[in-house]
Amino acid sequence: MSTSDHKKLFQIGSLTLPNRVFYAPLAGCSDFPFRKMSAKYRPGLMYCEMVKMDALVRHDAGTFHLLDYSADMHPIGGQLCGSKPAIAGQAARIIEDLGFDVVDLNCGCPVDKVTKDGSGSGMLKTPELIGEVLANMVAAVKIPVTVKIRAGWDERSINLEQIVKIAEQAGAKAICVHGRTRQQGYRGPANWDYIKACKQAATTIAVIGNGDVLDGPSAQKMFETTGCDAVLVARGTMGQPWAVEDILRYLDGLPVNARSLEDCRQALYEHFLITQRYHHDHRVCLDMRRVGCWYLKKSSGTRQFRELISRAQSMQEIQDLILRFPLGEESNTEDAEQAQELDCCL
Ligand SMILES: Cc1cc2nc3c(=O)[nH]c(=O)nc-3n(C[C@H](O)[C@H](O)[C@H](O)COP(=O)(O)O)c2cc1C
Repeated sequence: MSTSDHKKLFQIGSLTLPNRVFYAPLAGCSDFPFRKMSAKYRPGLMYCEMVKMDALVRHDAGTFHLLDYSADMHPIGGQLCGSKPAIAGQAARIIEDLGFDVVDLNCGCPVDKVTKDGSGSGMLKTPELIGEVLANMVAAVKIPVTVKIRAGWDERSINLEQIVKIAEQAGAKAICVHGRTRQQGYRGPANWDYIKACKQAATTIAVIGNGDVLDGPSAQKMFETTGCDAVLVARGTMGQPWAVEDILRYLDGLPVNARSLEDCRQALYEHFLITQRYHHDHRVCLDMRRVGCWYLKKSSGTRQFRELISRAQSMQEIQDLILRFPLGEESNTEDAEQAQELDCCL
């Protein structure tokens, strides 16, 4: 794909998407308030955090709660995690019945708890099972089915071209490739050669490139070096709901809107208010410790704020911190690199 195509309408199966910059599923992060903030900037497609097939088919209320969305969040994808072909179709149909535009199969989650029963990136070890699960999902729904994979379980077992073929045969309409192995976790740079290899192997399936796309220049490089059809931004959306706007403007050759500290503070406050309306107090407090750090991680002079919010004990304390910010006693010399050293951001 040429980078000038990035804003053209994009077809995934029967679904027409407004652009080719997508927002990733982020377990524990891309919840309703996160997506409400993101929706204002109109990503081409936005995924909910993953949900377990088993929990969905036994109608677990908490799992359904994770899938809450509002009309402004379309186009929206639900992501399933599980490895049982027998319930995959039923789970996919629940996602469709809830009104989702896309249903995705997670074959990338590296967490032991998930891989131990062969789900998430554990599926990479059994490519035929990926085919079976996908085929059952495809047979059960009219909405497009997509799949998200990593490059392989480890460097010795890179099998993504095989999985591209299997996914195509099963009838999946797009495959999102995170250019790291399971063994890598989130360490080291994503290897985009893997994404290029998938694109070259693909005949009918769209390839979505993922890993280290954070802004306009990295998105452009991803499109140019891999030939992928769309990009999926994950960590770059945390505290930057406007990432898609910045990327599209950059690809258009337009100046990217500079976000001032005040813009970030206001966005954080808005995120806080939405979170307050949506979650119970204890959860708001826990979430805002993380979310507060995201929004101000790139700004200089915010170290003290981030330290305070990452330990905040009450909603009142959080609200006061955000409203009183900037705290005034810090110099502005701290740079973004120092800011990223703080591990409160993830
Ligand atoms: C906190 C966190 C939660 C994630 N949750 C999911 C998830 O639910 N489903 C999934 O497919 N990937 C998940 N991922 C992986 C991301 O979607 C993405 O593939 C990965 O972060 C690489 O993209 P990036 O370099 O743009 O961050 C998660 C990543 C992080 C950091």
